[in-house]
Amino acid sequence: MKLSIQLTQREKLPKTSLIVGIIEGGELTPTAKAIDQTSHGFLTKLIKQGAFEGKMGQILPLYHLEGTRYEHVLLVGCGKKGKLSPAGFRKLTVNAVKALSKVTHATTYLTEVEVMGEKSLAWKVKQIAEAVSDGLYRFDLFKSEKEPAPVLKELAIAISEAKQEKACVEALKQGQAVAAGMTLMKNLANTPSNICTPTFLAEQAIALAKDYAALSVEVLGEKEMKKLKMGALLGVSQGSAEEAKLICLEYKGTTKKQAPIALVGKGVTFDSGGNSLKPADAMVGMKYDMCGAASVLGTMKALAELKLPIHIVGIIPAVENMPGGTAYKPEDILTSMSGQTIEVISTDAEGRLILADALTYCERYQPEAVIDIATLTGAVVIALGFHATAILSNNAPLEKALLEAGEESNDRAWPMPLWEEYQEQIKSPFADMANIGGRPAGTITAACFLSRFAKKFHWAHLDVAGTAAMMSGTQERMATGRPVPMLMQYLINRTS
Ligand code: BES
Ligand code: MN
Ligand code: ZN
Repeated sequence: MKLSIQLTQREKLPKTSLIVGIIEGGELTPTAKAIDQTSHGFLTKLIKQGAFEGKMGQILPLYHLEGTRYEHVLLVGCGKKGKLSPAGFRKLTVNAVKALSKVTHATTYLTEVEVMGEKSLAWKVKQIAEAVSDGLYRFDLFKSEKEPAPVLKELAIAISEAKQEKACVEALKQGQAVAAGMTLMKNLANTPSNICTPTFLAEQAIALAKDYAALSVEVLGEKEMKKLKMGALLGVSQGSAEEAKLICLEYKGTTKKQAPIALVGKGVTFDSGGNSLKPADAMVGMKYDMCGAASVLGTMKALAELKLPIHIVGIIPAVENMPGGTAYKPEDILTSMSGQTIEVISTDAEGRLILADALTYCERYQPEAVIDIATLTGAVVIALGFHATAILSNNAPLEKALLEAGEESNDRAWPMPLWEEYQEQIKSPFADMANIGGRPAGTITAACFLSRFAKKFHWAHLDVAGTAAMMSGTQERMATGRPVPMLMQYLINRTS
């Protein structure tokens, strides 16, 4: 599918399918007005008769509009003037693309609608690029009858200001790179754990590094990890028939010597809970417990696509968390790579254990900052639901930059406190710490645990259990591609 920026003159609207926003109870956008005029007031009539009100979420396709050359005009309701949120804009753009089922060439004029926060034209272009990819996304690899492939071949994004063209072309490039990263994230995350094993993830990383000269990869197996004394990670993995892997990617987009930023992604390819077994219902969705890993791979791909001049390391601890006679057990004491000992209270709090060793491993890169991404706690879904990623950090400027990147990229995060008082909850009578802190503030105590392995660098933790995938319900389960947009925005902002 081809995307392009089209500087348009309204007198010469193209003879393709047009996507036009309609404001509820308000003035017509310039292009809607132009269509209205050539169709002898057809749109005005529709609106007057109440056939289309422009309510948010409303969509109406019109074919062979009388008096015009257009084969197809798709009206998209945008709600009341000045009330369209960034998330709303994203959603209606996705829905508009989905409604183009039979169209091969289209031009979107959704760039004309106003988005709250005075969003720029370039911002809308980038959002459209990502939303189009979202709207056309399918995961039917395992279906005998494939869903009909999208027929859309070309979408032009109309802009009317020549002065903005350069910024819009750049925004389109960024949006397409982010979209490519999100698609990779979704494909990996949606792949079931009987196929997507730690070894599979390592193979995917190797394949990715082959595609781009700036990317390289090294994979450590259990033997190497034993040498490094990664007792926490290996403890989690010991009940699984699948070998654990530590996947280390490096993206060198610049020849300048630069301390890297490390992205660390939780890669639990299936989380049964281990011997602290999850109830059957809660296990559905746990193939998504490697979304952090998938988002690191997705971000690496987006970086390489965009050729961003920056130095990034991607570290993925990949394991499967299984119960059984060889598996680790409650009250086992593990010695982490850092030397700190951990009493396992729940084998279902495995993510923080593998991340602990991965964080310690990061020290060797002397990173400028470390960001971990993990589907770490069910508690974050209780606190923030499905819209915000939780962010906890030991460095205020890093936290602020990530929050801003989330705001800017329409992939938002919200801060939670990492106060010392919470550290009390993970005390153990037998080891340096326990791996859980009880039910209160579960997301915070998980981050407190991680903070003990992140003392040597600036660090931020993203708990994406509510945002990286829809995990429950039998029909709606699907990965989202988040937080690739936020991470990419943060990295883009650092280079400009
Ligand atoms: N992978 C889960 C967290 C999770 C739960 C992600 C639901 C997405 C949806 C994590 O490993 C886990 O099991 N966490 C426990 C921690 C508890 C034992 C302290 C949880 O959240 O219940
Ligand atoms: Mn778990
Ligand atoms: Zn888990």
